This record gives sequence, C-alpha cells and structure tokens, in this order.
Amino acid sequence: MKHFLKETDLRPHEVAEVFALARDFKAKRGRHTPPVLSNQTWALIFSKSSTRTRVSFEVGIHELGGYPLFLNRNDIQLGRGETIEDTAKVLSRFVHGLIVRTYDHADVERLAAAGSVPVINALTDFLHPCQIYTDAFTMAERWVGEDGDLLAALRGRKVAFLGDTACNMANSWVLGAGLFGMKVALAGPAEFEPSAEFKVLAEKEGFSDAYTFTTNAQEAVQDADVVYTDVWVSMGKEEETKARIAQMSPYQVTADLFAAAKPDALFMHCLPAHAGEEVTQEVLDHDRCIIFDQAENRLHTQKAIMAVLAQQARS
Ligand code: CP
Ligand code: NVA
Repeated sequence: MKHFLKETDLRPHEVAEVFALARDFKAKRGRHTPPVLSNQTWALIFSKSSTRTRVSFEVGIHELGGYPLFLNRNDIQLGRGETIEDTAKVLSRFVHGLIVRTYDHADVERLAAAGSVPVINALTDFLHPCQIYTDAFTMAERWVGEDGDLLAALRGRKVAFLGDTACNMANSWVLGAGLFGMKVALAGPAEFEPSAEFKVLAEKEGFSDAYTFTTNAQEAVQDADVVYTDVWVSMGKEEETKARIAQMSPYQVTADLFAAAKPDALFMHCLPAHAGEEVTQEVLDHDRCIIFDQAENRLHTQKAIMAVLAQQARS
C-alpha cells in the first residue's frame, strides 16, 4: 500500500505525476470533475487545529467525487484510549483513505502499518509533506520555462528558511530541497539546529548536502530565490512562547532582510502568519509575497496526491 507520510515516499515518476495532475486540476477546476474518488469516503483524523489543510482536503475530496468524513480525535474512541492499531483496522473497513494531523510522527507510521488504506500525513511535529509539495509546485509555476517542465524549473534554486529551524516545516524543507534538487539555507538560534533524529533521516535519504545551518540570517538570504518563514510557536509549543519570541526575534523577515535576497526573490510562508513576529506586515504586503497562491495550491496539489494514491490502491 502506497502512503504519503514523508516527501520521499513517492518515486520520481509519481512526483512528476503529482505535478502534472495538480497543473491539470487547477486549469480545469469547476469545468471538469475527475471522478478519481467516486463512491469513496476519505476520513480526516485531526488532533490539532487547521484551516488550510482541513478545508483544502474536504473540498478536494468533494471535487474528486468522494465524501470527506472529518473526525476530531477527541470525538472518536482514539481520544479515550482505543489503540492506533485498532482504529486503523476498523476505519480501513469503512473508508478508502486516511488523512491524519497529529503530534508524534510515529503515530502516522503506526496507522499506516496497521491499516489497509492509504494514509496521508497532514502534519506531524516532525514533517509537513503536503505543504512542501504545494510550495514547490507554487514556485515551479512562477519559474517554469517555455518547455513547461515544472520540476526542471526547481533544480538549482535556493530557499532561505528563517526562524524555528527545528520545526516540522524546516525538516520538511530539507527533504523537499533534496527531492527537488534545490538547496535550503536554515537560519535560526543555535538551540534550534535540526534535531539529531532528523539529521539521521536526512543522511539516510542522501540529503546531507541539500541544507546548511547558520545562526546568521543575512548569510542565509544571500542569493536566495525564496525567503521562507513559519510561526515561531508551533502547535503544541505554546508554553515556550515567551522564550521562543526572545530567541527568534533576530530572524524576523523584515523588508531589509528580504531585500538582501535575489532582486526577484519570492516571500513564502505556510501560514498562519503572525505579523510582527516572524515577518513584518510590510513583507506580507509586498508584491513578491505569494502566500495566498501558496494557500490555494494546497487544494490542487493534494487532489493530485490523493489521485496518485487512490490509483495505486486500486491496482
Ligand atoms: N499551512 C497549514 O497547514 O495551515 P493549517 O494549519 O491552517 O492547516
Ligand atoms: N510549524 C507550524 C506549521 C503550521 C502549518 C506548526 O506545526 O504549528
């Protein structure tokens, strides 16, 4: 069974198929309903808040002819101690796919191992792969050449990722950079260097050269094609708010810092944004800030990911 728990779970031809389908779904939205999920129900099991991920998956499943079933973890017996394995086995008897947002990455791996339907990681504390595929697609749309090759448009490009360089988005950007032939320069406080656990994974994937880590924000943005940031206080880290804001304030994306990247650099953020913390309102209002294209593309890219997984599950 093919799952999408981390960026590298899709093979190169599947990645190419996701990009091609996302472009097609976007171009034809509202005029054509690809029935790839017709007569299917896909369940979303969420243990954390969400605007973009929840809405884009629910709308996307509906647009592919399927039925989205949203399950808050605390509304099902999982929240009262039923095991992940039993939950996976039971839900596999009812639904055709599981989309899971939770804390511990091992939980999505356990669901995938115990169930018999495709599982999509909709964010864990460790990785956020749906966001990275969307971000790469959004960049590729901007950079694609006359040959129309979206993946070729990404190769050799540089992303500067500032702030919480130990969070799920930073980890995922390292895997994304390796997968798409890009480089990511992480800049954050020394205490927020990528974890030892993540470094083992990056090395195993052969992506140790895809990233650098520095405490110097100016150094990271030099020659960057994209300046990227994320919230300083990820879901589950609320108790550390005060300390994190103090530690990460040198990494705020200001207009001056953005101007130190390439002259045509893009500003991106997975959202939600906290203006005045990780980024200034001036940068959010900049004409090279493409955060809402990025948010919209969650829909098209995730429809493509579900289409690829559903096709494999049928075969
Ligand atoms: N970027 C993202 O995943 O947003 P949500 O938390 O709103 O789903
Ligand atoms: N790092 C953030 C991403 C939100 C989409 C979090 O985990 O809260």
